[in-house]
Amino acid sequence: MVDKSLWTQQIERDPQHSHRYIQRFKDLAAAGNDLHGEARLIDAMVGREARILDAGCGPGRVGGELARRGHTVVGVDVDPVLIAEAATQFPESTWRVVDLAELDLPAAGIAEPFDVIVAAGNVMAFLAPSTRRDVLANLAAHLAADGRLVVGFGAGRGYEVADFLADAAAAGLSIDLELGTWDLRPRTAGSDFLVAVLSRRP
Ligand SMILES: C[S@@+](CC[C@H](N)C(=O)[O-])C[C@H]1O[C@@H](n2cnc3c(N)ncnc32)[C@H](O)[C@@H]1O
Repeated sequence: MVDKSLWTQQIERDPQHSHRYIQRFKDLAAAGNDLHGEARLIDAMVGREARILDAGCGPGRVGGELARRGHTVVGVDVDPVLIAEAATQFPESTWRVVDLAELDLPAAGIAEPFDVIVAAGNVMAFLAPSTRRDVLANLAAHLAADGRLVVGFGAGRGYEVADFLADAAAAGLSIDLELGTWDLRPRTAGSDFLVAVLSRRP
């Protein structure tokens, strides 16, 4: 048994939280907001019909768009309400309720590794701190030999970038690129966001 993610603790305190989260993104989409910046970056990183794992997928905002672009998407999330929504919205993809700290897709019959794993929308900042290294090691283990892991999260959300980089190194990942935004702006001393591209250390 692993420590509960901060997201799980939040939905236990407030069972409506997930439903409001789903509605918020429906409202943003209905108002014409661009919700696909992360998916566009990931799409540019891979060949056509790639295998993509959306780690902490929520209601499938990123993975669903990547599936629409022709990729084979597996999405995993600890929140069953969000996974049910993803499965309803994007039935062509595979969605599973899993804590990333216990991720073992081959044991669930999904054996093939991934060209890219994406963890967008502050997933890393919602992990139970005690599980961070295990999560990063699990993600590394699900990458193809030349696969890449892309994470994005905000500074000031309780996971310092220096700690993240140390945890990634301990999990056998090396950093290929540190950006400040999903539209490829450089990370500077004043950046309040990190988009990191990582790969397995040879
Ligand atoms: C702000 S949402 C982002 C959802 C999605 N990635 C997006 O960008 O639209 C954060 C997500 O991280 C998931 N999460 C947090 N800790 C997790 C864990 N240990 N295992 C799996 N999912 C987790 C939450 O359930 C939640 O869906």
